[in-house]
Amino acid sequence: MKIISGIQPSGELHIGNYLGAIKNWIKLQNNSKNECMFFIADYHSITENYDPKRKPEEILNLAADLLALGIDPKKSVIFQQSKIPGHADLAWIFNTLVKIPELERMTQFKDKAVMQKENINMGLFDYPVLMAADILIYKADAVPVGEDQTQHLELARDIARRFNNNFGPTFPEPKSLLTETPRIMSLTDPTKKMSKSHGEKSYIALSDSPEIISDKIKSAVSDAGGGKDKRGGDNLLAIFESFAETKEEKNEYSNYKREHTNGKLKYSEFKPRLAELISDYFVDYRQRRSELSKNSEFVKKVLENGAETASAAAGKTMSEVRRKIGLEI
Ligand code: AMP
Ligand code: TRP
Repeated sequence: MKIISGIQPSGELHIGNYLGAIKNWIKLQNNSKNECMFFIADYHSITENYDPKRKPEEILNLAADLLALGIDPKKSVIFQQSKIPGHADLAWIFNTLVKIPELERMTQFKDKAVMQKENINMGLFDYPVLMAADILIYKADAVPVGEDQTQHLELARDIARRFNNNFGPTFPEPKSLLTETPRIMSLTDPTKKMSKSHGEKSYIALSDSPEIISDKIKSAVSDAGGGKDKRGGDNLLAIFESFAETKEEKNEYSNYKREHTNGKLKYSEFKPRLAELISDYFVDYRQRRSELSKNSEFVKKVLENGAETASAAAGKTMSEVRRKIGLEI
């Protein structure tokens, strides 16, 4: 299968990104039947308010994070979106196939428009079309993402179908690949998805120290309404389950789960254990990440090599597309 996915360089990675997407990227890349491409969606990230002085660092940090987590440049193509002009070129062409009301329906656009009322820019509106171009330019079959991206994937399939109908068979219709935890909820409000925009206490960053993880889990919302509303607890248990790898940890999970169902879970025991499980899971990552932070030349080189490979593939599709839509004279 041809696999592609992207992630925005805007602040730190959190366990929602990891459990919803990146964990799957690593699994897919380690199956030699797959051809994987992963990119830093810097063009998408400038649709939100940002500081241009900090952006280069955010791009490099994210690339180093992906490498430290196990994305392997020998197996996957890793690159920076803006270095491949074909993405924006193809998005422009796709713009002519998409109607304004289709983009007005996008829930992420509606959510973000509320959060940045003073900056509802055209890029934010057109974000899903650029995303379709990111995927289709490599003729990808499958896209590992969190649940919040499935509506965008649906639009990518619509665009592929429309293009194929109008100009002849060109693009496969890409499907989304979800993990078992496609939507990790906020630690401070379990009715909202975990995200960087709801305050530091609401998410666990991969770079958080064991002490910070422990504090954040301690203050996480668990069961509410005298135990009737179990959404907070369910979220913490889902996180435990995802990080439980050994047989013992899986048994521990089953016990906690049973206690929770029976209303007998002791959070004073469960929460410190959960914090420990998360910290231990990322020990190797923290080690590799600190080594990579001393070697930004290597990280840059990986992105350069990735861009070369991506460029060749994107260029090929763009020639085909330009010919098919009648722009080659
Ligand atoms: P972003 O940081 O918005 O670029 O997201 C990167 C990836 O993480 C995307 O595939 C998202 O769908 C996924 N993701 C973000 N937040 C969550 C969450 N709370 N739960 C699961 N997946 C998420
Ligand atoms: N919109 C995605 C997100 O916020 C990032 C992204 C951009 C992406 N282009 C993509 C994901 C193409 C998958 C495929 O998470």
